[in-house]
Amino acid sequence: MCGIVGYVGNKPVVDILMDGLEQLEYRGYDSSGIAVMCPEDIKVYKAIGKLQNLRDKLRGHEKEFNTSTMGIGHIRWATHGAPTLLNAHPHTCNCGRLVVVHNGIIENYEALRDSLGVENELKSETDSEIIAVLIDRQYKKYKNCEKAIIESVKMLQGTFALAIIFDGEGDKIYATRNVSPIVCCKSEKGSLIASDIIAIGQYSENYFVLPEMTIAKITRDDIEIKDFAGNSVCPEILKLDWDINAGTKGGFPFYMEKEICEQPDVLRKTINSRIKNSLPDLSEDKISDELFENCTDITVIACGTAMHAGLIGKHLIENICEIPVNVYMASEFIYSNPIINKSTLVICVSQSGETIDTLEALKYAQKKGAKSLAIVNVKGSSIAMQSDYVIYTQAGPEIAVASTKAYTTQVAIFYLLTARMAYTKKKLNYEGVTKFIDELAKLPDAVENIIARKEEIHLLAKKLLASEHTFMIGRGFDYPSLLEASLKLKEISYIHSEAFASGELKHGTIALISKGTPVIALMTQRYLAAKQISNIKEVMSRKAEVITFAKKSLVTKDINCDFVLPEIDDDFTAVPSVVALQLLAYYVSSDKGLDVDKPRNLAKVVTVE
Ligand code: G6P
Repeated sequence: MCGIVGYVGNKPVVDILMDGLEQLEYRGYDSSGIAVMCPEDIKVYKAIGKLQNLRDKLRGHEKEFNTSTMGIGHIRWATHGAPTLLNAHPHTCNCGRLVVVHNGIIENYEALRDSLGVENELKSETDSEIIAVLIDRQYKKYKNCEKAIIESVKMLQGTFALAIIFDGEGDKIYATRNVSPIVCCKSEKGSLIASDIIAIGQYSENYFVLPEMTIAKITRDDIEIKDFAGNSVCPEILKLDWDINAGTKGGFPFYMEKEICEQPDVLRKTINSRIKNSLPDLSEDKISDELFENCTDITVIACGTAMHAGLIGKHLIENICEIPVNVYMASEFIYSNPIINKSTLVICVSQSGETIDTLEALKYAQKKGAKSLAIVNVKGSSIAMQSDYVIYTQAGPEIAVASTKAYTTQVAIFYLLTARMAYTKKKLNYEGVTKFIDELAKLPDAVENIIARKEEIHLLAKKLLASEHTFMIGRGFDYPSLLEASLKLKEISYIHSEAFASGELKHGTIALISKGTPVIALMTQRYLAAKQISNIKEVMSRKAEVITFAKKSLVTKDINCDFVLPEIDDDFTAVPSVVALQLLAYYVSSDKGLDVDKPRNLAKVVTVE
């Protein structure tokens, strides 16, 4: 969703802003714009659609901005008001002398508009333009940029990350935020801000997250931060531990394929650093056994793919640690009157660490006294900062909207948590836990085996190209993997897909199976194989086109097996199975000629409820 970038320094600003916005494209957007401090005034350029349209608009205007070294940029994912030029950011006020970009939602924008009596002055339908008007009013009153911003922000309700520039006030960018993220860094080329470190990480490996409800004054050589009472604030400096080149396609046609293929490596990183002397060890994550000793039940809160990782976690923890686990869609959590108390451990799972529903649910759970642990990929993100404890997945930057490596590393963390919890709660003894860890350590190789055979999956994908609907069936531990596989297929190929626990299919949905309906069957669980075979036969006898993915030892003459999954213990099949099905979705989408990495209507980072 919306993304912000800002630069003040000694280099031409437009290239830096455009590169930064390009890095933020993955968040999802439908219009873009930049504001550049030019010798005579601030120039604003906007375009609807892809960033290329903005690049096209800039062509021919180089003389206006080629000496400029300061500006702010924005990509917008439309919420209030359609993706039009008027609604695109930056928003201006005072004849263009004040310019604002905003990420978030201003909940009281209508009340502010009415109280300021500016309905007829506003040019857009957005909730954001009112911020520019408000700051302008305060600026005219106080004749001081910082005071004007602080007094305005005090009146805003909702979530916001703001970057603001004033004509005639020197080369300064002001930034402030509530919930929505802003990171900042300094380099020899100047100072930068952005919604995500990926946009500016190439300039410095040291960065910081702007603390909430503070104001940053960003100049070429300095970033000064104060709280709203005027006290200096010293933020914690973070070190970028991602290879910034990881944010390129590395020769693959799409980020998604590259990210799928990175899974053996990132799984090794995520797992191996947390195994010491054959035991799971979370001490570097500062997680002590006390957290598990004192918890009687677990609530997992997440959205989308991250929630599916939670369902895998539920299966593992309930089976091995024997404690109850509830998995909630974050968007429903606070409205469900959830039963949580001081002995509940709340685990929030999020790739971005910025999903607003998950963040709000976490705050709600904390108010009820629950301890919280976040499984997050992005360092210093809002959920990571808000949670009592955090374990970072080491997936590196994930650019494709459809999550792959972030998911499997989240699942890997659930294996580690399960192992440590089971050991602490004496559900597994030393031999038991080391055997579990040995199996876990085999996962990267199992995934490598699948990736090496990706062309076999590519051939199977051809069977789905003309389909409008598919169904996926599996039992037990395979079912959550299919929920994830089905989400992958529909989000990037636009083929309707539904996952079913095989036994449930006959309670209604089997009515939709007819000659040629594609049904993807997954079979990795030994104790359920006989039942799964009979469910596969049920759909075959209705002439469905069944594509079966089965674990090697379960392949039987009774049914055709289209893809043989590597032999691995039943409790560990969730990772290789899903990787095979990620590849299936990927090839369907790319063979259909779709934009695999940026599927329509979707955003990678969902910062609105
Ligand atoms: C969006 C993304 C999904 C992701 C979900 C949760 O819908 O497109 O890929 O699973 O948000 O995001 P999070 O960053 O919290 O994991």
